Amino acid sequence: MSDAMPVPFVDLLPQWGAIEAQVTPDLHKLFVSGEFCLGSWVQRFEEAFARYLDVPYAIAVNSGTSALHLALIAAGVGPGDRVLLPSHTFVATLWAVLYVGAIPVLCDVDPLTGTLDPEDARRRLQSGAKAIMPVHLYGQPAELDSILALADQHGLTVIEDTAQAHGARYRNRAVGTHGAFGCFSFYPGKNLGAAGEGGMVVTADPKAAEQIRALRNHGQYERWIHRELGFNYRMEGIQGLILGHKLPHLNAWTDARRHVARRYQEGLADLPILLPTVRHHDHVYHLYVIHTPQREALRRFLEQRNIQTGIHYPVPLHRQPCYTALGISAPEGYPHTDRLTEQCLSLPMYAGMQEAQIDAVIAGVRAFFASADQGPT
Ligand SMILES: Cc1ncc(COP(=O)(O)O)c(C=O)c1O
Repeated sequence: MSDAMPVPFVDLLPQWGAIEAQVTPDLHKLFVSGEFCLGSWVQRFEEAFARYLDVPYAIAVNSGTSALHLALIAAGVGPGDRVLLPSHTFVATLWAVLYVGAIPVLCDVDPLTGTLDPEDARRRLQSGAKAIMPVHLYGQPAELDSILALADQHGLTVIEDTAQAHGARYRNRAVGTHGAFGCFSFYPGKNLGAAGEGGMVVTADPKAAEQIRALRNHGQYERWIHRELGFNYRMEGIQGLILGHKLPHLNAWTDARRHVARRYQEGLADLPILLPTVRHHDHVYHLYVIHTPQREALRRFLEQRNIQTGIHYPVPLHRQPCYTALGISAPEGYPHTDRLTEQCLSLPMYAGMQEAQIDAVIAGVRAFFASADQGPT
């Protein structure tokens, strides 16, 4: 082990420091009020989040996975329908498709950004396709123009998986508001994170909003009347409270992430690694992901210097046992997804990273490539 400055992959303590003074008295009020499930804190956060994104409706739920599930139901996607989604994403995007009994059509991704390749999606389109789920991977908007055009041509509902891209903009509109639905996660390490689990569906469709509001609360459109199969996907009051206090800091925290990204970009530009490619739009750097064939050796090297890294994601959806068991054949394969998943390495990234920590990461990566023995990949 080295005695270099330790750098965790994520540190959420600086965020707590920014909100603690306001949260503490409000927590007392919450316990006195007993508004533990949904309630006024959640409602105020829904309204603030809708204003932040400039979208008519925001419905808070208990996770990003629940948000995706309810959006697919509201889109009318059901058993036997096909849904296009990238293979290079977190497994939750796939869960939602399977929860409604639909057939996933996995697509390959752009070789540089890792987001859904619209041309590949076009090639894989089959009859029965109902929806397409672009993922704004790592905080970078997917190529929405082409995806929306494809969806328009083929009557697909666009459900944006915005779990990693709070506040990112595409053509000057927040992602999550371009398709019919935007689905957010507030898992603690996300750019906007709860003190536990949380999620949100946003939409401009009043009927869909009403349905999602009912579905998250046992399918109740009115008290004790359960019109359709419902779920307990309610957001907890405490999460609404925490998220409501964090939201005003989100833009500053995004700027802080962009500062870390800029420092990495400058400090690593001349090395034989693929740095994040920002195509034309915004990037909110939920993750800062580099690519190198020496991923494993670099990871071990950094670990010895007390620098934590992550891999997002080591196993793509088309290689997950839960997917291969479905027996869906795709002989053309997923060459870009395969290469990216073999080579991706996420460097430490969070708002509140100290300059010395950023320096330590840059120095660590540089030292690896300067060393004669870079070890086996
Ligand atoms: C791309 C993506 N989709 C969906 C989810 C699911 O969100 P949650 O963990 O809040 O259910 C996540 C978060 O982990 C994610 O990164």
